[in-house]
Amino acid sequence: MTTSITTTENTSANNAISQKLFGTTPAGEAVTEFTLTNNLGSKIKIITLGGIITEWHMRDKKGALADVVLGFDSLDPYLKVGPYFGAIIGRVGNRIANAQFTLDGETYQLTANNGTNNLHGGPQGFDKKVWSATTAQDANGPMLKLHLLSEDGDQGFPGNLNVTVTYQFTHKDELIVDCVATTDKATPVNLTQHSYFNLAGIGTEAGATILNHKAQIFADHINAVNQAAIPVGEPMPVAGTPFDFRAPRLIGEFINADHEQIHNGLGYDHNFIINQKTYKELTLAARVEEETSGRVLEVFTKEPGVQFYSGNFLDGSLTGKGVTYQKRSGFCLEPQHHPDSINQPQFPSIVLRPGEQYKTRTIFKLSVK
Ligand code: BGC
Repeated sequence: MTTSITTTENTSANNAISQKLFGTTPAGEAVTEFTLTNNLGSKIKIITLGGIITEWHMRDKKGALADVVLGFDSLDPYLKVGPYFGAIIGRVGNRIANAQFTLDGETYQLTANNGTNNLHGGPQGFDKKVWSATTAQDANGPMLKLHLLSEDGDQGFPGNLNVTVTYQFTHKDELIVDCVATTDKATPVNLTQHSYFNLAGIGTEAGATILNHKAQIFADHINAVNQAAIPVGEPMPVAGTPFDFRAPRLIGEFINADHEQIHNGLGYDHNFIINQKTYKELTLAARVEEETSGRVLEVFTKEPGVQFYSGNFLDGSLTGKGVTYQKRSGFCLEPQHHPDSINQPQFPSIVLRPGEQYKTRTIFKLSVK
């Protein structure tokens, strides 16, 4: 059974949930930071701006805790710059070609914020909004429930969209991300979670880049993209290419290979089509391990695709947690529908209609071996 609990500032670290003021937006909105702690002593911090996971502290094989996600130290950079560290992405994650789509005979023009494309819901996407929050817990672990009303016309999208994202941090070091949405007008919806992981730990020598992380992605195909990162043509079989992660392989092994898709993505920045019987089943999409720490990440999802992004656009211009984020110092595994789905009818639909419910689940699970 789920019971609502009241949280107070500065509760002791043994308590499962604590909260404090993280900052205030220029519009005067308070942004709260919640700390969820599980029975294993692992800790996740999430702020109400964008549902951003700012910290995730996980032990290594010797029992030492380290923060394994990229992030900033204060609110300001989260508001101003766009690597989307740790955020919930919406209303439509990934790209919409030419920032335009037609739905039920009406054409919608969005803002182009990635060349001519719309990326991650536009310049003021869900990652830039302050969500309302309630907390709860059950036998599995503490929960943070975030709610957002994205109004009709928000970033150019039709319909009032009511979104609830529930994070549960279990006593098994799983972060369960449940997303539910309803609308009063047909609209595309494609939410995702955009954490950048570095399993060696932020600020460690082994964690300078993620090239020595070993990744396995359970996908026989990727969506090949053009230079604007929009899917083109038939799904590309991964066999015999730098995209074959069906058996574990170092991320760095072929990241600079002379392959058209590596050139187009400037490394890995591709939507892998997860092997599933039906995409609505919770499926293991990817597994990544880092040898020096022994940490392992597994990503389970009900989504049909996972964007594997190797942090190619990090360029040493952003700092946080006492480090400068160099190129490829973090990787993202973003479960989602395929890019530009709203314009590409061969993909599973991302259209949500009144009376329907958008409902999806992703689990990020950490462990040590
Ligand atoms: C995209 C990248 C983009 C990054 C922004 C990823 O989801 O696939 O192309 O640069 O988000 O941080």
